Amino acid sequence: MIYFFLIVFLGLLMPTLFPILISIKIVLWVLAGLWLLPFTYMMYLYYNFSVNNKEFQYKIWELVIQKLTWDGQGKALDVGTGAGALAIKLAKKFPESNEYGIDYWGKGWNYSKQQCEENAKLEGVADQIIFQRASASDLPYHDSEFDAIVSNFVYHEVRDTRDKRKLINESLRVLKKGGKFSLHDTFKNKRKYGNTEDLVNQIKEWGIQQVSFIETVEEISMPKLLKSELKTMGLLYGIK
Ligand SMILES: C[S@@+](CC[C@H](N)C(=O)[O-])C[C@H]1O[C@@H](n2cnc3c(N)ncnc32)[C@H](O)[C@@H]1O
Repeated sequence: MIYFFLIVFLGLLMPTLFPILISIKIVLWVLAGLWLLPFTYMMYLYYNFSVNNKEFQYKIWELVIQKLTWDGQGKALDVGTGAGALAIKLAKKFPESNEYGIDYWGKGWNYSKQQCEENAKLEGVADQIIFQRASASDLPYHDSEFDAIVSNFVYHEVRDTRDKRKLINESLRVLKKGGKFSLHDTFKNKRKYGNTEDLVNQIKEWGIQQVSFIETVEEISMPKLLKSELKTMGLLYGIK
């Protein structure tokens, strides 16, 4: 999106370098100036969430792991692992555990299985983690295989399942009775998940013994502008 905004901005400015009517130049300058606003906003978001900035992206990962009340015995699954961040963090925190990271690694994200494996190697936890290509809609595991499940910012991205609640159910299917989960996504987006209280109640009806919901913006201090961008985000965590 950033490239798209940049290309249109430059496309609007380019003709003004040529000898054209001043009135047309002024119109193009105004349009380019207006176009600069969403571009600046996208850059602001990009900077705040970039891994190099070590700010909000890190705080969100920390929150997901902090709310997972797992003792690190057994194996954990990271649904939609991306570049492997959560799986790697869990492996480092719990050296006796094993992690699985699944992802579609499709178009639209600059992530890959190879990148995950290299990251795990760099962090010294390659022996603990297995990365697999799979969809969050249809996990290639038996019921109750895992002791812990984590996921960050994935379900709303999944194209092959419209009903986003089904994705939560599918993740919880592979969790053992008594297993811990910590799932972060745009759970307050009513169009995708419906009413949040109703969502929590439905998860309880699936037989999950403890479910809590917290809003991301209440847990992590951030500038107002970011708050409005992240207002639909929240964390569902608990015990199956
Ligand atoms: C915003 S990224 C989050 C990555 C990672 N969880 C993190 O915290 O850095 C969204 C991820 O969802 C993955 N994804 C999209 N559709 C998926 C699907 N059907 N099954 C599994 N992963 C999917 C994308 O490939 C991408 O890695």
